[in-house]
Amino acid sequence: MLPTIAREDDTVVMIDQRKLPAKEIYVRCKTAAEVARAIKTMVIRGAPAIGVAAAMGIALGARNSKTTGTQKLAAEFYTICELMASTRPTAVNLFWAIDRMKRSFAAAVEAGESVEQIKDRLDREANAIHDEDIASCRAMGAFGAAVVPHQARILTHCNAGALATAGYGTALGVIRAAVEAGKQVTVVADETRPFLQGARLTAWELVRDGIDTTVITDNMAGALMNQGQLDIVVVGADRIAANGDTANKIGTYTVAVLAREHNIPFYVAAPLSTIDLNALDGRQIPIEERNPREVSHLAGSQLTPDGAHIRNPAFDVTPHHLIAGIITERGICRAPYTESLKRVFETEVARLP
Ligand code: MRU
Repeated sequence: MLPTIAREDDTVVMIDQRKLPAKEIYVRCKTAAEVARAIKTMVIRGAPAIGVAAAMGIALGARNSKTTGTQKLAAEFYTICELMASTRPTAVNLFWAIDRMKRSFAAAVEAGESVEQIKDRLDREANAIHDEDIASCRAMGAFGAAVVPHQARILTHCNAGALATAGYGTALGVIRAAVEAGKQVTVVADETRPFLQGARLTAWELVRDGIDTTVITDNMAGALMNQGQLDIVVVGADRIAANGDTANKIGTYTVAVLAREHNIPFYVAAPLSTIDLNALDGRQIPIEERNPREVSHLAGSQLTPDGAHIRNPAFDVTPHHLIAGIITERGICRAPYTESLKRVFETEVARLP
């Protein structure tokens, strides 16, 4: 499986996703600030992956602290948490992971642990977040594979694969699980302007796995649907509101509208850590606006004339009524999502020790 991110003693190592597929380079972060910068600059990206990165960055930051007192460690710890929270606003997994690290810290203090024991506990928690994410992807895959028809031609948008998670992937996990279940599938990957996660990352992952993959530009999906060349859409998510409205990579909404017009089922695959019951609907999801240069320039060359205004919202919101199902690690939630998403959390809470 792809090594998206790993902790190696005093370092958090991650594959540089800005350089793929041309170069496989690993970035070695030695401080929490370096991890935060890697998240902000998209060395690592994808909702679950940035949650794992933040957790590992926090644990690394605590480990690097020279302080001997719990109170001073707490001050440093919360500053690092704030730094991580300031990196990217949309994917709720980031804030979910930071909250988990905060709860772990509070439990350690409550238990009267020494500075060294607190650091050990934070390391364990970050590693658990990493490992649980892979297990969630596998479980999502098993549920999701059931809705993928044999010989399906699957459209996906952006990269919701091993690179966007600790491993295996959400939407691509569903595709991988369908293949592992013996289904023959072909995948069409939207290139996903402007950062090209589909063309660069999804295609790279799937080709490595020997899965038949075709890359199209984002404006081709409608024509393929109209010609009867696509059977199902599966995408990931960055934040799902309580009513099922789903924020994902810009362009996802367009694909969902097209899928509805052509009666093609549109599925979202995401772990519970992507669901934000505090956001009642999509209007409450903050949408990141990124550097205009990502749109105006391609590989260093300017595409647009000086003086043209540029917009670069990184995500859009697909309204819940366009979604056939939300595939989670605890099963597939169906409409009405306000009820099914709430229920899946209640079941999850009941499972916890
Ligand atoms: O800007 P990115 O590349 O972090 O956006 C990623 C996406 O939109 C993914 O589809 C989403 O995070 C799901 S990843 C399993």
